[in-house]
Amino acid sequence: MSGVNDIRSTFLDYFKANGHETVASSPLVPRNDPTLMFTNAGMVQFKNVFTGLEHRPYTTAATAQKCVRAGGKHNDLDNVGYTARHHTFFEMLGNFSFGDYFKERAIELAWNLITKEFGIDRNRLLVTVYHTDDEAFGLWKKIAGLTDDRIIRIPTSDNFWAMGDTGPCGPCSEIFYDHGDHIWGGPPGSPEEDGDRFIEIWNLVFMQYEQVTKEERINLPRPSIDTGMGLERVAALLQGKHDNYDTDLFRALIEASVELTGVKAEGERRASHRVIADHLRSSAFLIADGVLPSNEGRGYVLRRIMRRAMRHAELLGSREPLIYRLLPVLVQQMGRAYPELVRAEPLISETLKLEENRFRKTLERGLSLLSDASSNLSKGDTLDGETVFKLYDTYGFPLDLTQDALRARGIGVDITGFNDAMQRQKAEARSHWAGSGDKATETIWFELKERLGATEFLGYSAETAEGQVQAIVRDGVSVDAASEGDQIQVIVNQTPFYGESGGQVGDSGTISGDSVSIEVTDTQKKGEGLFVHQAVVRQGSVKVGDAVSLTVDHARRSRIRANHSATHLIHEALRELLGTHVAQKGSLVTPDRLRFDISHPKPISGEELKIVEDMANAIVLQNGTVTTRLMSVDDAIAEGAMALFGEKYGDEVRVVSMGTGISGAKSGKPYSVELCGGTHVSATGEIGLVRLLSDSAVGAGVRRIEAVTGEGARAYLAEQDERIKALATSLKVQPGDVVSRVETMVEERRRLERELADAKRKLAMGGGQGGGQPAVAEVAGVKFVGRVLEGVEPKDLKGLADDSMAGIESGVVALIAVAADGKASAVVAVSQDLVSRFSAVDLVRVASAALGGKGGGGRPDMAQAGGPDGAQAEAAIAAISRAMAG
Ligand code: ALA
Repeated sequence: MSGVNDIRSTFLDYFKANGHETVASSPLVPRNDPTLMFTNAGMVQFKNVFTGLEHRPYTTAATAQKCVRAGGKHNDLDNVGYTARHHTFFEMLGNFSFGDYFKERAIELAWNLITKEFGIDRNRLLVTVYHTDDEAFGLWKKIAGLTDDRIIRIPTSDNFWAMGDTGPCGPCSEIFYDHGDHIWGGPPGSPEEDGDRFIEIWNLVFMQYEQVTKEERINLPRPSIDTGMGLERVAALLQGKHDNYDTDLFRALIEASVELTGVKAEGERRASHRVIADHLRSSAFLIADGVLPSNEGRGYVLRRIMRRAMRHAELLGSREPLIYRLLPVLVQQMGRAYPELVRAEPLISETLKLEENRFRKTLERGLSLLSDASSNLSKGDTLDGETVFKLYDTYGFPLDLTQDALRARGIGVDITGFNDAMQRQKAEARSHWAGSGDKATETIWFELKERLGATEFLGYSAETAEGQVQAIVRDGVSVDAASEGDQIQVIVNQTPFYGESGGQVGDSGTISGDSVSIEVTDTQKKGEGLFVHQAVVRQGSVKVGDAVSLTVDHARRSRIRANHSATHLIHEALRELLGTHVAQKGSLVTPDRLRFDISHPKPISGEELKIVEDMANAIVLQNGTVTTRLMSVDDAIAEGAMALFGEKYGDEVRVVSMGTGISGAKSGKPYSVELCGGTHVSATGEIGLVRLLSDSAVGAGVRRIEAVTGEGARAYLAEQDERIKALATSLKVQPGDVVSRVETMVEERRRLERELADAKRKLAMGGGQGGGQPAVAEVAGVKFVGRVLEGVEPKDLKGLADDSMAGIESGVVALIAVAADGKASAVVAVSQDLVSRFSAVDLVRVASAALGGKGGGGRPDMAQAGGPDGAQAEAAIAAISRAMAG
């Protein structure tokens, strides 16, 4: 008989041959449904296609869809392991018509596939229809030739399929297989229908309506078809088995588990192997689709599944982590059909191992507490809520794990008592933070967090999502609704918007619904786990409970991503070049640029910046995949991940690795490995280009580097280029000659300045300035040169005085320069032979007094002073000569 992989491809090939588009399974975390925890049917990804909101380039399709039914409304977790057909993870094969064919063709296609392609004995088949659906009844007779007793009318919701409280729905018709009278059970609708003899294999839904609200149901734009066949069930049938766990795929997993534990899959232990096989599948696929174990929402469901499997591994006597060792078998079985499993294998493996290691630390102690507490209980008793809560709180036992552990002994748990204990603990926590000095304005976030739970962040893998508005805050108060113009803060159950943290700014974008358009200007994290959208209602109104679409500003997010990833590359390059003392002291990642502060005692030279830039760009050009893993802090640090000192990390951290080292110790190893919760490019090439702009000091021993990347870097370089071109035009040279031209000009300018100064000096000293004053006079029997000079720099006065003195050899020289603003500077020089008679300092002070200044100073042979009143320059010269004359 054909294996699971053959059956899956036979199904898809059959519908392809019948004109259907083969569409890939959508992720397990629904992107288009705010209320659904996990994808639980093939039609989930087509919900909006049925209702006419979304259009696809095909009108018929077929899929093999990954589904999880654990947590939320459809929760099969408790039954898994103990029954033949319950799974937390399963594959649903389905064909779909979006307004193309309807009942007749759907029945025809289904009947031909199962009787001809699959070769199922038609005498063992019977079908159900909704009790009023005469049309379907007639079609089954006509197409399949079924007799009336084999077409059973069912009046209950079993034959009216609805996705949930709202969404597309319609009557359905189910195909059943009779496994034979050696198995107990009756046909559908009979009192014995719950028996295992008649097994439903395929559900054909005649989608006709859309349930808009609880009360209102409208017609779909065009009648459509949605079908669902459980691959595991049909595989069992085709392989002549009655039990899904006896099919080839499960056998491979169970055999591996038997081999690793040395415990046969028999008797009491059979369930444990089944639990492990099933839970391995759901855990692996959930992790591959971006869910990681946590204490909230989807992550908590995953954790419950994983821990349940781990308890069963313990029951099988395994003392070391087991589940991750079975992963290669799963990847071998299902990796070809679901390549995401292959891609995520390292992440799945590490996550499983980490969780199992952690849980093992408390598992044994918890189990011994459980066995002590329940030792005097017997069948029909319940374990008290306090103990169940203690197991939950202290030993990490999810409620269903405790239930599962007691199930075999027929012991229940006191769920009310458990819930009470949980409430008491929450109340205590509340009083704690209420009194911990949190500002009153912040208290609201903790209250909301407690009421709503943490926001599910989808933004590592998505930029759009649907969500349900959980709270609206206006002016610090929680309100029910908001309308046009209101400045609000919105909380949605799940969001792709990144909340500002780790230096990365929050996302902006839009939130829209049927009757509202909201602009999100920023997103902040509050109350330990809430993502708060800072927003303004642009149009319409919104109320709590509304379904909305959230769309992150893609262009902005892409720039942020590139800048964040570049920060990691620059950080590593700086450490490589400058030394490992370089540690991040702060960072800011915005769409426009990145800013990065590091500890380093001295300026980073231009040459060093260039090397860092070159290193970062070499990794950009590698265009290697950026990988993210979830690890324990200790493991991450042991692997060399850079953690920021003083930063608070949870037990588990995201570790982002990028690039491959080119030289030195890192050669061939991951280049940058950092603990980081931010959003990153998926391959380094998306960074485009890294351009460092500057290095500056921001405090003792801390340098700041700024840089731009991608489009920002391109714009920056284009601007620089424009500048060079403008410069070249002004200089009338080619852009390539700008530097040499400027060098020549600078040299020329220096020469001209020198020549000009000389000329001025000559002019000043040679010409008869100051009203025809003779160049050299005689005062008190010595030569005296007294001149007022214009256009001479004060700094040149001493040199000019020396020149004059050289001309007269012995005497006194007094020069006063008057600047354009009217201020005067004076220099007096006295030749050495006369310093006993005249003091340059005294004489210059005389000039200073005349110029309205004070003081002056220097040596007896050369002194300098100044004064504000340049108009008195001539008078000052005269005063000096009077003073000399005594
Ligand atoms: N959507 C239908 C189901 O899940 C086919 O059964």
